[in-house]
Amino acid sequence: MSNLIIGNTVIELPEVDSTNRYVKNLIKSGKVFEGMVVWTIRQTNGRGQQGNTWLSNPDENLTFSMVLTPKNLPAQKQFYLSIITSLAVVDFLNTYRIDAQIKWPNDVLINNRKIAGVLIENSLKGRRINYSIIGIGINIFQTDFPIPTATSLAQHIRFPAQEKNNPKPVLQTMLEKICSYVEKYYFMLLNGKFDELKQLYYSRLSGFQSPITITANGQQFTTRVKQVFDNGKIELQLNNGTTRIFGFKEFETVLD
Ligand code: BTN
Repeated sequence: MSNLIIGNTVIELPEVDSTNRYVKNLIKSGKVFEGMVVWTIRQTNGRGQQGNTWLSNPDENLTFSMVLTPKNLPAQKQFYLSIITSLAVVDFLNTYRIDAQIKWPNDVLINNRKIAGVLIENSLKGRRINYSIIGIGINIFQTDFPIPTATSLAQHIRFPAQEKNNPKPVLQTMLEKICSYVEKYYFMLLNGKFDELKQLYYSRLSGFQSPITITANGQQFTTRVKQVFDNGKIELQLNNGTTRIFGFKEFETVLD
């Protein structure tokens, strides 16, 4: 791989419960360095946000985690790790001429259907980030989903049969591509290009240019995103003219 850091070392596991969990154990044993990637095509007990599980059929999708050590990134700016990751996934999908949007905080959607999820687990040292485990799941070949709001790349582009039958080489190439996009945005982050990254994030963010529907406290609202703060909280402009700030899990976006 030609990247400077991210993905230069890839630990490829035939099967694992969760690549995030695996990386966490590696960190405990002190056997990690920045940019290391753990990848499997058979993740049996993937972790999602909010204690959910991330389901992925064997041999069909991308499931991997990377280690970053942005030691100078203040903890209150850790949301920028979500920003760079979701931007990288969108860029990756754009290479297939697919228009993708970010659903706050870091899901990636195609036509309002979720194609990718990101689980970021940070360990802090004082007010700084010590380690960040960035776990990414992207649905590639899978076409049967237990929920109607999911999608995959195969539902938008036609893959040659030999790629579906022998998915590993193509998944590996995709992994390399995504790592190079994450690296591009990570360097922007290390160079302090916060405003530029935030503007890029807004340009891909669902609800920023056009309204979205959400439910909060059992009520439905049509809203627009006013801003996302550096700590990740979001300010929404509701259709009754008021604005409200929401934290994680405090509202649901309606994907119709
Ligand atoms: C979400 O709930 O949207 C986040 C899903 C994150 C899934 C990925 S798959 C690779 C990595 N390992 C895990 O156990 N989870 C993340």
